[in-house]
Amino acid sequence: VSPSTKTNAKILVVDDEGGIRQLLKSELTVDGHDVKTACDGAEALELMEQEKFQLVICDMNMPKLSGLEVLSAIREREPDVEIIMMTGFATVETAVTAMKNGAYDFIQKPFNLDELLALVDKSLEKNDLRALRGVYEASCTIFQSVELRELLPIIANSSLKILNADSVTIMAINQAGKLAVTASAGIHNAGCVKCPVNLDGTHPTLPFWDQPAIVAGTGGLDVPCLSGAKSSIAHPLLAAGKHVGMIVVNRIRNVKPFSQVDLRIATIFSSQAAQAIQNANLYGQLQEARDQLVQSEKMASIGQLAAGVAHEINNPLAAILGFAQLLLEDTTLTESQRADLQTINSESLRCRTIIQDLLQFSRRRSPQMGAVDIGALIKSTVGLVQHDFMVAGVDINVHVPADLPMAWGETGLVQQVLLNLVTNARQAMEGKQGHLLEVSAAVHEKQVSIRFKDNGPGIPKDIQGKIFDPFFTTKPVGQGTGLGLSICYGIVQQHGGSLRVESDSGKGATFIVELPLEAAATRIAA
Ligand SMILES: Nc1ncnc2c1ncn2[C@@H]1O[C@H](COP(=O)(O)OP(=O)(O)OP(=O)(O)O)[C@@H](O)[C@H]1O
Ligand SMILES: [Mg+2]
Repeated sequence: VSPSTKTNAKILVVDDEGGIRQLLKSELTVDGHDVKTACDGAEALELMEQEKFQLVICDMNMPKLSGLEVLSAIREREPDVEIIMMTGFATVETAVTAMKNGAYDFIQKPFNLDELLALVDKSLEKNDLRALRGVYEASCTIFQSVELRELLPIIANSSLKILNADSVTIMAINQAGKLAVTASAGIHNAGCVKCPVNLDGTHPTLPFWDQPAIVAGTGGLDVPCLSGAKSSIAHPLLAAGKHVGMIVVNRIRNVKPFSQVDLRIATIFSSQAAQAIQNANLYGQLQEARDQLVQSEKMASIGQLAAGVAHEINNPLAAILGFAQLLLEDTTLTESQRADLQTINSESLRCRTIIQDLLQFSRRRSPQMGAVDIGALIKSTVGLVQHDFMVAGVDINVHVPADLPMAWGETGLVQQVLLNLVTNARQAMEGKQGHLLEVSAAVHEKQVSIRFKDNGPGIPKDIQGKIFDPFFTTKPVGQGTGLGLSICYGIVQQHGGSLRVESDSGKGATFIVELPLEAAATRIAA
């Protein structure tokens, strides 16, 4: 697409001679342009407040404001309009002054009409290039970032700039299939288009869903992203022919309606923006896959080490425990001897639990897969920890739909995951008032998704990458081995599922476990 202005450019003719105005208007209209006329500078400036022109053809010698005065007034307001000056008695000097003051060119009256029309074409071409350069520069900046979080505000701000707009809303189709605001910039933060997108990618109510369009006012639509707008451009974001969202830019203070040229600029820019968004999405997926690979390699090597160490310690530990228990049966012990022995016994038992955890973590036996009733499992797990939660003063809520389909896995292992996540949440929130853990389950993209949302301290971004590592813990020495989450991660991975965390420091943490559906798994097996 090229923003060729051969047709439909907006041109303003300023001349005190009615004949010239008429002549130029009819000739340029025949050429396909949209022409307005003004009989003096004041009227010209007034018209320019109302709409945007690509070209002004202005007479030098007019009563009231002179052509040169009009020229500088226009330049001050509109840096990117082309201006051609006309004069009856040209001197080199006036020509130079006009050019110095930013005129595109200069033509002498009485002019040859063909010559003037050729000049008009050339100046409009230049205007096109000027607009294109803006788009090009904006495109360069948006391709500098592959992080969606950085990219979206850049796209938003660039579109404000290149389209002289006052506000912009970028919406993407979210996981629930609805358009949701992902970035906005400018005067007001426009709200969300609430209507859902159809499964086939079409939109039931937005007329500009398939075609970029200029919308006047709210276009008779009750959508917040258009509210307050005088003129808007709404544009679908298409990546590889698929809708990924839309951009809506509005003019609110700037009262000039968007023109066809603006629409063409928006078309080019939006296609670049959609591509950049697509790149960022792909990059994100790649990053995730790489992180998973690194994590599983780390787990495998640490697992081997841990298994070796655990095995070596197991036998001497069994001996320590055995002898301690044997000695405890001695009736001739003093009180203090008995107390010391009991300490040896209980600390050795604690070691044994850690060793068992380690072995569990490293033992990569394949789970015995079967149907898992996640709802029932959540309820029984919550039953197990209810007392601990009560003592800790933390509430726990469960939302599981009655018709949740079966997941595919080993019930015992899945329960271990649930128990670990619930326990971590309790430990994070212990002691303070108003703390709550919400456990919910739903089907999401052919998986059963279980969320553990707490309103505890959350997890700082810089340690979020470490919490799934074996032995990573923020607990004081002796209070946690830091194996809980790495065991969970390993189990979920063996199930062909995923485990991740979303958290903003200070705003709680949400752990999300996704497990395959029984139906999907058995269909593949069959
Ligand atoms: N819900 C949560 N809120 C805040 N931080 C959490 C949460 N869950 C886990 N963490 C952080 O992740 C770290 C690692 O958790 P993990 O379960 O692997 O080990 P741990 O709980 O410290 O020790 P262990 O599970 O062996 O008792 C924790 O020490 C804590 O810093
Ligand atoms: Mg833990």
